[in-house]
Amino acid sequence: MDKLLWVLLPIALAGAAVGVLAWRGRLPPRPVLNVWFSLLLLLYVLITAGLGIFWVANQHLPVFDWHYVFGYALLLLLLVHLGFNLRRVMFHLRPKPTAATPAAAATGRRPLLGAFGVLGLGVAAGLGYFIGLRHGRTELRIEAGVGSGVGDRGATALAVVEQFHDFSAHTRSGVLRRAPGADWGAPPPPFKPPGVGPRLALPAARKLQAATAAGIVDAAALAEMLWHTAGVSARSGGIHFRTSPSSGALFATELYVLTLDIPGVAAGLWHYDVPGHALQQLAAAPADGSLPGAGALPPGSLALVVATAIFRRSGHKYRDRTYRYVLGDLGHALENLRVVALQAGARATLLQAFDEARVATALGLEEQEEGVLAMMLLQGRGAALLPPLPALANTPWQPPLMGGAQGATSEARSGTTLGITDAIHRASSLRAAALPPAGHTPPGPWPGPASTPSSWQRLPPADSRIIDPLALIASRRSVRRYSREPLALADLAAVLATMARPGPLLSNALRVDVLALQVAGLGVGAWRYHAAAHALEPRAQAVADPRRSARAAGLDQDVIGDAAAVFVLAIDRAAFAADPAGAARGYRHAFIESGLVGERVYLEAGARGLGVCAVGAFYDDEAAALTGNDPAREWVVHFAALGVIG
Ligand SMILES: Cc1cc2nc3c(=O)[nH]c(=O)nc-3n(C[C@H](O)[C@H](O)[C@H](O)COP(=O)(O)O)c2cc1C
Repeated sequence: MDKLLWVLLPIALAGAAVGVLAWRGRLPPRPVLNVWFSLLLLLYVLITAGLGIFWVANQHLPVFDWHYVFGYALLLLLLVHLGFNLRRVMFHLRPKPTAATPAAAATGRRPLLGAFGVLGLGVAAGLGYFIGLRHGRTELRIEAGVGSGVGDRGATALAVVEQFHDFSAHTRSGVLRRAPGADWGAPPPPFKPPGVGPRLALPAARKLQAATAAGIVDAAALAEMLWHTAGVSARSGGIHFRTSPSSGALFATELYVLTLDIPGVAAGLWHYDVPGHALQQLAAAPADGSLPGAGALPPGSLALVVATAIFRRSGHKYRDRTYRYVLGDLGHALENLRVVALQAGARATLLQAFDEARVATALGLEEQEEGVLAMMLLQGRGAALLPPLPALANTPWQPPLMGGAQGATSEARSGTTLGITDAIHRASSLRAAALPPAGHTPPGPWPGPASTPSSWQRLPPADSRIIDPLALIASRRSVRRYSREPLALADLAAVLATMARPGPLLSNALRVDVLALQVAGLGVGAWRYHAAAHALEPRAQAVADPRRSARAAGLDQDVIGDAAAVFVLAIDRAAFAADPAGAARGYRHAFIESGLVGERVYLEAGARGLGVCAVGAFYDDEAAALTGNDPAREWVVHFAALGVIG
């Protein structure tokens, strides 16, 4: 709002000056006023165009704010300009009486022209009203399958997933068919305000030293992990860029830590204050050494990192697609955490089952605004593994009742304004009647045969060049400008191999396709990567001009249209539906997995001097067509562009 006020200030001053002059009887003649306002209009046109060109060149999608605010001001000035000039324009357009078209005939045509004009205005207004009306409605209703049994709840939760995924898909006709289901309001601040609890300043980020490499996970090592997950690594254009990428640079992720055995940090529950690079204590450590809602942690646990998302940070831009983006962002961040934990001599395991509502209460969060999405347990290397997650049906873990006992819409039930974001968060949440041990059933390996049929393209053996992951993360940036130089097949092969290492962490539903657009020694088109065989299987060629189709499917973003290769990550519907923590939770796990794998693209490509950009904005149906995916079996969830830096 304050932006709007600043941008409108010169117009308001000009209006006030005209008012004062009129009041003093010194109002300049109309042509002079016309020139003044035309000059002002020109200035706004130049600034609006300049901002647009700057941001397009700078390739930062998130910061179009000033651009669109200037757009509104421009509209206002255009109206003033039209007010001054409409009469003149109409005069020029009006048919002039000539010998062949007597005045009477011209006058006779005027009502017809007027009727067309009124009709056109009516159609435009009607269309605008129709679209606007659709935009004002919440349409996701979760009525079917509500019951108290685990099966009923699971079926309802899966129904929410199906509806959410469909509802949050981008399609060219979507704007006419769908209405965003939430009132997102103004964007919240990028960082949480500092709390009142004791603060612990963390050591400045540094390279992990011998002590931590020897397996002592102390305050300095924890500081490294947190900074490389969510820390500020650059500032530009008023944005605090972070060590992990984030859709729209909106950084919805927040980190909390339950410290249990970290020398230099008192046992307790802490919030990571990103701009201050400090821990802010929320509470002392619970007496039983765990977090309510997280289940019993095994002996030897060092710390538990809880990751949440403040939905509105992303939602004010991404609306009903928000949940997809916050999960993708989180996956990227958690991969950095895992990699740095490994460097520090710790083992990092993602928990599959926890009770979001209880954890949110323990952290003092307002769950509708800030959802608990993931937890990573840090253990010493020799510590006991988490016990396996028992099958959902045999445990008290279950999805919460959707839509309340009566099956009302989730929005009506909770009174939230976040619509389907709230619905999908609840559907993919778990509730525990009593707390079983925190569960973990490692997902199976990547599917696919180890042998290579003759039609497949074998890939060259690939060694990772990630020697110093901390330095890579610290200097990581999304790159959107690529040269036309072809990508070496060895580089593509290495990135693919790294994507598949160390195997699925939360979900085995992820599938990796590559759209090769300019890779030396690899045919242009779509390929499926088979990790066990380290080979590419050609996919049915669904589109005629892959580069053009890719750019179009990627919402016409140059970053896709100019890339040498585009990774198209999809999730197998049957595989995520079979997740041991339930189908809806499986959907969340699969999305996070896509982010984990997406971050590995940044790291391996970064180590090879290549450019990468994650891309979550695409037309879902066109994305599926690019690789010949059948949406009945797989859903495309993520793109990553790769190319030689231009
Ligand atoms: C899940 C996800 C989706 C993204 N989608 C897009 C996208 O559609 N287009 C784009 O240009 N960048 C996209 N990005 C990249 C972000 O814009 C970028 O990470 C952010 O501006 C911060 O810049 P940095 O990565 O250089 O730190 C995405 C990033 C993530 C993690």
